[in-house]
Amino acid sequence: MDPSSITSLLTAPGDAVLAEACAAFRPGGELKLVEQLRRRYDAAVVTAAVTQASLRHRAAAKFGAEDAARMYFTPDGLEQATRTTVGVHRAARIAGTIPGATVVDLGCGIGGDLISAARAGLRVTGVERDPATAAAAQANLAALGLPGEVLVGDAEAQDVTQYEAVFADPARRADGKRVFDHNAYSPPWSFITDLLAGTACVKVAPGIPHDAVPDGVEAEWVSDAGEVKEAALWSGKLYAGTSRRATLLPGGATVTTAPEVDSGPVGQYIYEPDGAVVRAGLVTAVAAAVDGWLLDPRIAYVTGSSLVATPLAAAYEVIEEVRYREKALRAWVRSNGIGTLEIKKRGVDFDPAQLRKKLAPKGSASATLIVTRIGRDAVAYSCRRVSTQAS
Ligand SMILES: C[S@@+](CC[C@H](N)C(=O)[O-])C[C@H]1O[C@@H](n2cnc3c(N)ncnc32)[C@H](O)[C@@H]1O
Repeated sequence: MDPSSITSLLTAPGDAVLAEACAAFRPGGELKLVEQLRRRYDAAVVTAAVTQASLRHRAAAKFGAEDAARMYFTPDGLEQATRTTVGVHRAARIAGTIPGATVVDLGCGIGGDLISAARAGLRVTGVERDPATAAAAQANLAALGLPGEVLVGDAEAQDVTQYEAVFADPARRADGKRVFDHNAYSPPWSFITDLLAGTACVKVAPGIPHDAVPDGVEAEWVSDAGEVKEAALWSGKLYAGTSRRATLLPGGATVTTAPEVDSGPVGQYIYEPDGAVVRAGLVTAVAAAVDGWLLDPRIAYVTGSSLVATPLAAAYEVIEEVRYREKALRAWVRSNGIGTLEIKKRGVDFDPAQLRKKLAPKGSASATLIVTRIGRDAVAYSCRRVSTQAS
């Protein structure tokens, strides 16, 4: 994107076109809106304004409607930006450890994290190599009334010693595609590990291998509303003395230790740990929390004899074991009048959508089928989802 498609909207006439485009914007109606506005305004400004209106509409899910309506985006910048819930959590940890710290955000994008950090009272400098994205980040701080500066430049060329903490959220995209290997990040992994020798917080993909995390650095896996969003690496003054952590937003429940827990036969309840707990390798923390045990030492299902309120897992009451054979499962679906069938699986290789199709659920009842492996055997349990919220 050309930086002028952001900066042209920051002038009073550009802002008026943007306001009109946002007020009239309807998803799918972009072409018509461009056509209407072009009758009265400059074509380049109209295109920029309608693009922003569309991006603001999409951004509401990440940033909330109120902030999104005032912010500026590039398409890639929006795609890669940290959602507010997660950014606020991270910024609060930095501000709680080093209040009012000077923080440089290396590769700040459109400023998702920068905004959360500035709101947490941190004194922020963003560095972004893409001029249009940097223009959006600077405009976002201004639009939200936040202090801070954004520099256009290469993260690797910055003198980071002048800041109390470094934040980085390396780009995980190349040629428009998502990159899963941390060795393909930009700035590169070697630069990131150097940063982690000082006081730093680095956002990484949740699939980061445990053995890629340097010694003396904490890896925190974060989920939001049950969906794993990211991992963050914490070093230096931000290291809290633990190597792994799972944090569950929006409540903020956090676990850091995996106690020794036995495995044993299925109890009245099966607990499915939150994905952040699973990724962090802290499943036995769930077993300890619900006074339960593992179904199998290598599989992330916990079982127990009582229903215990916990934010760490979803729970299912076990109705009966069903033979893991298509014929037996079909008979179970038919005899119980099951029409809505949720299939969960761990450690067994099959496609739940295909199995559901084969079982042809038609009735009015609903059920959850949990398929897993105990030792070498695949087992299936007919279950009913129950709440794990404290009453
Ligand atoms: C994942 S995005 C950052 C998103 C940001 N944390 C947010 O919440 O909006 C990564 C950004 O780093 C920038 N980037 C990648 N390599 C860079 C480098 N060497 N120097 C400066 N910026 C870089 C990319 O242009 C991209 O905008």
